[in-house]
Amino acid sequence: MDRIIIRGGNRLSGRVPISGAKNAALTLLPCALLTDEALTLRNLPRLADVDGFGHLLNGLGVSTAVEGARGNDFGRVMTLRAEQLASTVAPYDIVRKMRASILVLGPIVARAGEATVSLPGGCAIGNRPIDLHLKALEALGAEIELAAGYVRAKAPRGGLVGGRIVFPVVSVGATENALMAAALAKGETVIENAAREPEIADLCRCLVAMGAEIDGIGTERLTIQGKDRLHGADYRVMPDRIEAGSYACAAAITGGSLDLIGARTEDMTAILAGLTDAGISVTPHAEGILIAANGRPTALTLSTAPFPAFPTDMQAQFMAMLTLADGASVLTETIFENRYMHVPELARMGADIQVRGRTAVVRGVDALIGAEVMATDLRASMSLIVAALAAEGETQVHRVYHLDRGYERLEEKLSAVGADIERASEG
Ligand code: EPZ
Repeated sequence: MDRIIIRGGNRLSGRVPISGAKNAALTLLPCALLTDEALTLRNLPRLADVDGFGHLLNGLGVSTAVEGARGNDFGRVMTLRAEQLASTVAPYDIVRKMRASILVLGPIVARAGEATVSLPGGCAIGNRPIDLHLKALEALGAEIELAAGYVRAKAPRGGLVGGRIVFPVVSVGATENALMAAALAKGETVIENAAREPEIADLCRCLVAMGAEIDGIGTERLTIQGKDRLHGADYRVMPDRIEAGSYACAAAITGGSLDLIGARTEDMTAILAGLTDAGISVTPHAEGILIAANGRPTALTLSTAPFPAFPTDMQAQFMAMLTLADGASVLTETIFENRYMHVPELARMGADIQVRGRTAVVRGVDALIGAEVMATDLRASMSLIVAALAAEGETQVHRVYHLDRGYERLEEKLSAVGADIERASEG
């Protein structure tokens, strides 16, 4: 296992190329299962989870061909083709390592009439149930059976049938599974209380490029006219709003300024509002968004919620930034039940944070001190990196495989803007 060593205190300054969005890529990849033609995805980020998903698709009979980045894209171009499925089973040893594997469930049952996918189980931030995914497929006529740690979905003899799906809780993944299944269901499907995260709109646009018919893109009510088949497409993955927000926090905490090249303001309204409220200057321009600190950040009161509200995936990184704010901040995590694993690690660096249930009070301190800390999950590990960039002295972040799941070439991007950062193997 690798660790990252950072000697803090440098003001970051320069341009950061924002990669393709992990959470868009992980729902665009399974779209290849919906057609026997080639799907080409551009600007795919080089991430462990993307590679893992490619291997999962290979096991299902999807061919994947990768070519290098082109032009100023950081990402890769991958062409996928599922001429026919070699299997309809997503095995435990793959799914347990990457929860997003559950996103093959809808496409496989829509394409092949049945699917068997290992239950993904929980993770560090919560028990992550998939009941809403299963209810959505049942609304399209699928029969669901749970046995021996697997979920088996079986479509009616003639295939899935359009229906009405009303989500009691906003769920990004369940909305994605429902959309991909409905694209090949017979007749019309209406999804109420659909997630509105930008990655959902990216999925809709890719499905439309493949011949799907979807109304209400970007809203909480999606109407899909199912098709007998979809065709191939050539689609570019949207930029990663959470990566962009994470680097914005790095600029803010180091008193620097970073130009987030490729970031889109419309994906980040609540993140940018939070930065502005913290006294950080936010300047959108043709190529991206310039983020510049103006002294210590101002304390904030923030609550996570589904898009367009403040995203849960930015809570840990904002908390790191606010450990050095002027005043006390109050953060409330409403989406996941255990998303404060970064708190004890930040405390090791001198942060003053009190957690009571879903709420954390962060009292700004004058300085953080470098320490050895442990990454526990993807966004928690980025919050430790953000804190280390401003801490006095050296910080070693252990178990950075968590980071490699969601941040493409992190050390390269940070050292290019002045960070004193290196990766060492734990050997
Ligand atoms: C997606 O996870 C993202 N992952 C998460 O990003 C993100 O934090 C989350 O959406 C919320 O925005 C990917 O896109 C790969 P949900 P997902 O279904 O789809 C409950 C990261 O760091 N729920 O919107 O799993 C669930 O427990 C990752 O990049 C059910 O109760 O999230 C949670 O409380 C972490 N039943 C809430 O809904 C279900 O069937 C939102 O979960 C599904 C979810």
